[in-house]
Formats: sequence, C-alpha cells, structure tokens
Amino acid sequence: MKLFLDTADLDEIREGVRWGVLKGVTTNPSLIGKAEQGFLPLVKEICSIVEGDVSIEVSGDDTGSLVDQGREITQIADNAVVKIALTPNGLAATRRLSDEGIKVNVTLCFSPAQAILAAEAGAYIISPFVGRLDDVATDGLRLLSDICEIYAAQGYGTQVLAASLRHPVHVVEAARMGADIGTMPFKVFEALVKHPLTDSGFKRFTEDWEKAKPHLGELPPSMQEA
Ligand code: G3P
Repeated sequence: MKLFLDTADLDEIREGVRWGVLKGVTTNPSLIGKAEQGFLPLVKEICSIVEGDVSIEVSGDDTGSLVDQGREITQIADNAVVKIALTPNGLAATRRLSDEGIKVNVTLCFSPAQAILAAEAGAYIISPFVGRLDDVATDGLRLLSDICEIYAAQGYGTQVLAASLRHPVHVVEAARMGADIGTMPFKVFEALVKHPLTDSGFKRFTEDWEKAKPHLGELPPSMQEA
C-alpha cells in the first residue's frame, strides 16, 4: 500500500519525503485554506517536492466548470491529479476527463454503490472516507473492505485510496484489506513509527555500546565517530 500524506503543509511533506516512504499527497479545500498561501505557488511546490500523485480538488457542482477546472489542474504539473466530489455532475465530469486521459480521484465516497459508479465513470482513484463514517457510528473499515472486494471481483483498474485515516490501526487494516493507497494526516504518519519498546531498546543499545567501545579495539572510522 502506497503511503500518502493528507496535508498542504510543505514542512510535513518534506519530512515524509526525507523518510523515504512518501509516495504522494492528497489535499482538499479545508487543507489548502489552512496553509494560508497562494493557491498556485502552493500546489506547484507540493507537486515539485513529492514524486507521486498529488490530488487537487475542484470546486462547485457544474459539470462544464468541473471539466474546465480539471483540465487546468493537470497543466499545473505532470503529477497533478484532479479531485472531484462524488455527485452526479461530478461523475459526468469524471467520465469526460477520463475519456481525455486525465486522472481523476473521486472523493467523498461513503458507500459501495458510490464506489461502483466512480469506477464505471473511469475514475483513476476512489476515496472512501473511513474515519468520517466511524464518526457517525458506521463501520468505515467495513466500507473499505466491501470496495476492495467488489473492485477485485469486477477487475476494476480504479485504485482504492483509504482516506480519512485517523490512527495506525486504520492504516494497518487498510493495508491488510489490499487498499492501493492510504492517506493520513502527519500525526498519524508519525504515529506509525513510534513504539515504546523501540525507544527503550534503542536507548539501552546506545548506552551499552558507549560502555563497550573503549574495549573493542580498532573500529571502522565512521563507527568510531558515531
Ligand atoms: O482529504 C480527505 C480525507 O482524508 C479527510 O480526512 O480527517 O478530514 O476526515 P478527515
């Protein structure tokens, strides 16, 4: 499963890239608004920092306007993906853009039926929102599992992007189900690496190494200096 950050914060994206595991970025209007930077410089910078797909959301619900916005978004960078909400007009725009070879991430998916429609409209990515379903006492991971199963049964090429992931268990379960991509806020990304036994074990090994070093004779220069 490819790991994406759900953010428009440039420092968070740079840090994810530094770790060597970040494969893409998703944004939405709320995240873009929070970044408090000009839209075009911001999205261009995001697309230049990360090599993989960067989803950028269009606005409104007029098919013609969604198509126009989508065409312009793809001009921003080679890795820009158009993000469109799952409405009837959004599906119509997805079909038109897909027919032109433009990659569309269909977002705000909350049911398997919606996911089938997105795939049939030619979506490049479908984004089911796991956490937001959990918020309304519905099993978000069950939705994800249903979509993975249906897409496999139908042989759809649309990638399943598990969105609205709120904690590491969501990420692990999404990977277990075979989601193609998991997108998450930076705090969830950071939580993936944390384990108290890693921290205490690392501390103990470091202390023991320092104690042992004077008695170990010649060491490779980089180990001597570390
Ligand atoms: O960007 C789409 C989705 O990941 C939003 O997540 O946490 O706002 O429900 P959240």
